[in-house]
Amino acid sequence: MKLIFERSRPGRRAGSLPRYDLSKPEVPEELRRRTPPRLPELSEPELVRHFTALADRNFGVDTGFYPLGSCTMKHNPRVNERVVGLPGFRDLHPYQEEEASQGALELMWRLQEILAEVCGLDAVSLQPAAGSQGELTGLMLMRAYFADRGEAEQRRVVITADTAHGTNPASVAMAGFELRKVGTDERGNLDLDDLRAKVDERTAGLMLTNPSTLGLFDEHIEEVAAIFHDAGALLYYDGANLNAVCGISRPGDMGFDIVHINLHKTFSQPHGGGGPGGGPIAVRDVLEPFLPVPAVVRDGDAFRLDHDRPQTIGKVRGFCGPFGVFVRSYAYIRAYGPGLREMSEAAVLNANYLLARLRDVYELPFERLCMHEFVLSARNLKREHGISALDVAKRLMDHGFHPPTIYFPLVVPEALMIEPTETEPKETLDAFVDAMRAIAAEAASDPQTIKDAPHTRPVRRLDEVKAAKRAIVKYGFEEHPNLAREPSTGEAIEAQKGA
Ligand SMILES: Cc1ncc(COP(=O)(O)O)c(C=O)c1O
Repeated sequence: MKLIFERSRPGRRAGSLPRYDLSKPEVPEELRRRTPPRLPELSEPELVRHFTALADRNFGVDTGFYPLGSCTMKHNPRVNERVVGLPGFRDLHPYQEEEASQGALELMWRLQEILAEVCGLDAVSLQPAAGSQGELTGLMLMRAYFADRGEAEQRRVVITADTAHGTNPASVAMAGFELRKVGTDERGNLDLDDLRAKVDERTAGLMLTNPSTLGLFDEHIEEVAAIFHDAGALLYYDGANLNAVCGISRPGDMGFDIVHINLHKTFSQPHGGGGPGGGPIAVRDVLEPFLPVPAVVRDGDAFRLDHDRPQTIGKVRGFCGPFGVFVRSYAYIRAYGPGLREMSEAAVLNANYLLARLRDVYELPFERLCMHEFVLSARNLKREHGISALDVAKRLMDHGFHPPTIYFPLVVPEALMIEPTETEPKETLDAFVDAMRAIAAEAASDPQTIKDAPHTRPVRRLDEVKAAKRAIVKYGFEEHPNLAREPSTGEAIEAQKGA
């Protein structure tokens, strides 16, 4: 496909603007362009076709099955877009006075109440804009809590599982804590012996996803909570996998003190490519005084923003957070109503259906029923036919599916992490099973075809390191260096800065 600069022809225009008889502003000589900007010149139909062709190459949850484990790529109901586009929501200015934004404040307050109930905790802040920002905020709350008790110097260590998502250890480091990792036992639970040996009076808390990134619910979660609480430490619940347990079990009841919720996973937001997202946090009452300001509170029939929280950690995001995300999530939750648990039940059922139909052709590292996702291993294909998880993922694209998450969690070699979500019908699940089984059979009969996949995409296998480190984000006019060649060391650093 040609780049837009290659389609450009001098003098072509996609539109024409009327000429106004206005005086020309004086631009200082040193700021003036010497040459006109080299913008692409195309007619309107060419422009439309170019961008439509690019858009057609996109794969999204609206084009096909997207079983990206840990990401909950579910359908985003269109009615939510209608609701968030209502003028009263869409045109509201963040500085609108409170009397004129009662509806928006009420929506936020109600969403807080619902999330507190879903999590089994006492108070919620909607402010963080992503799960990872929720993690950092939660850890800052932990620090504020221990500082208030005079234990800030003593409680320096936060424990994570060896199955943890990369943002967990990153948030621990960013919040200024020391990181300690705990292993996984042979049933996919936290290794209790390892845990007991690592929790002491220096421990500030645990960060855990439950169900874990293996898609397994920790069978000893109450014992785990007791180990931390007995040591005076707190428990943080990474709610990225909340889609598995809504209305069934609550992190607060499991013993967790702080939870983040990925609104863009469990409660349906169009997401990917860095946004938009929402990562509210729910906390136990002892942590409420430290929550970010402003808090959305109810006074009788009225709602207001409360800035008067002397112990707050401050603000973590502009205004009240990503408001459009709140509206969509609220609409999604209210559409389910009291039957919200059906969402999680269907997600778990779909995952177990796939697991049951695939476990005889791919290795299953932990012999258990799964929650809303599961992890298989392509280790058997690698051993017998030299076919890796990456090869399986690339070949799935030829079958019209987005690949699952691969090589994560790190504790499973050749991992394929599959999350179907509740919004997929049986026919789609069956088609995915057929593709996965066909690939396993092809690994024995014609491994080279899998190794060369994808065959039906505009590009084959990219050099992913180079694509990340040497991303070419602007057109190389003839006088620019050839960015496709191997960089020298100095140039590589420049390229990383986006030069
Ligand atoms: C288990 C887990 N924790 C945390 C995160 C971070 O969430 P976010 O992408 O919203 O920052 C993710 C994201 O995929 C995740 O899967």
